[in-house]
Amino acid sequence: MELLLIQSQEHSTLPLAELNAAMECENINGVVDAVCEGLVIINSLSPEYCDDYYKILVKRLGYTHEVHEVIAKFDYNDIEEEIVSIDWSKYIDETFAVRVKRFNSKIDTSATERKVGSLILSASEGIKVNLDNPNSYIRFVIHKNDVYLAIRKYELNKKHFEEMKPHKRPFFYPGSMSPKLARCMVNLSRVKENELLLDPFCGTGGILIEGGFVGAKLAGSDVDWKMKNGTVTNLDYCGFTNYRTFHLDVRELNMYELVDAVVTDPPYGISTSTGDVDGDEIFNEFFKAIYDNMKDDAYLCMASPHYVDLEPMMEAVGFELLERYSIKMHRSLTRVISVIKKSKV
Ligand SMILES: C[S@@+](CC[C@H](N)C(=O)[O-])C[C@H]1O[C@@H](n2cnc3c(N)ncnc32)[C@H](O)[C@@H]1O
Repeated sequence: MELLLIQSQEHSTLPLAELNAAMECENINGVVDAVCEGLVIINSLSPEYCDDYYKILVKRLGYTHEVHEVIAKFDYNDIEEEIVSIDWSKYIDETFAVRVKRFNSKIDTSATERKVGSLILSASEGIKVNLDNPNSYIRFVIHKNDVYLAIRKYELNKKHFEEMKPHKRPFFYPGSMSPKLARCMVNLSRVKENELLLDPFCGTGGILIEGGFVGAKLAGSDVDWKMKNGTVTNLDYCGFTNYRTFHLDVRELNMYELVDAVVTDPPYGISTSTGDVDGDEIFNEFFKAIYDNMKDDAYLCMASPHYVDLEPMMEAVGFELLERYSIKMHRSLTRVISVIKKSKV
């Protein structure tokens, strides 16, 4: 079976990296075909587990907008015979809508929606079009001359990332990253449900919130007690109960159990305080402090500014850089997202 994903194009590589990481940690064994930026097909999914995989991806992914199950693939020129040959009673429950999405194609989307809709009607009985509130939603995706005909079974919660924006949470302080990036970093850390996720620079709790929504147990600490308490306010607001928070300097970190993943955005620049640690030295101190608090197979996903060279610092401690992504913030700042693991000795 195949799933079709429509992804955000706000970054050229992170959406796909997030998908690959989520599939890896959830043991989803499909083959990923990145057709073009924004369109991904996952092939060779075993039919037995496809529905479970579908639900997991819908629950986890931040930079993916839609997930659908592929019904058929064909050439655009064969549209008529292909559509009428499908047994639509298997897919449509009384009412339906067809929506077209095109990639590298100039087809007229509205005309195609009408055409596909009437072809489906002509091939079926007892169904009606309902554009506003259909029971069944058909996605007709065209890439160049190839058509992917797909059906939506589960929907991503589109409102989540809007509602979780930092200024909409009860405790706000400037400098919290976007919830989508936080979710993506949680996925890059490969943390699974019920595993322990730590953010030792938790600030307002933005990263922990997204960790909570993928089902992780949470631990957060911050040198500033107002931030630590703010994280508690925000985690309570989200309804999480499976968390612990600490008021401490990262250099004093000594966790009650080894953690499965660390996701964090250490302080840099003028907007955040680093306790009494000088500038970039905070990164060095962080690597030293965190290493012994992590399980041997734990991942660390962190943000840093482009001008800090993390590699010598992490290697000196025994970490290994696996993946690196750059996000241009403005003319003089690029944020780097690194995925790091303990090196095998
Ligand atoms: C960039 S903010 C983290 C933002 C966070 N991701 C959020 O969603 O709000 C960095 C945080 O590190 C904390 N911090 C600075 N120096 C620290 C240290 N030495 N140990 C622990 N926390 C520290 C600051 O108080 C600040 O809350």
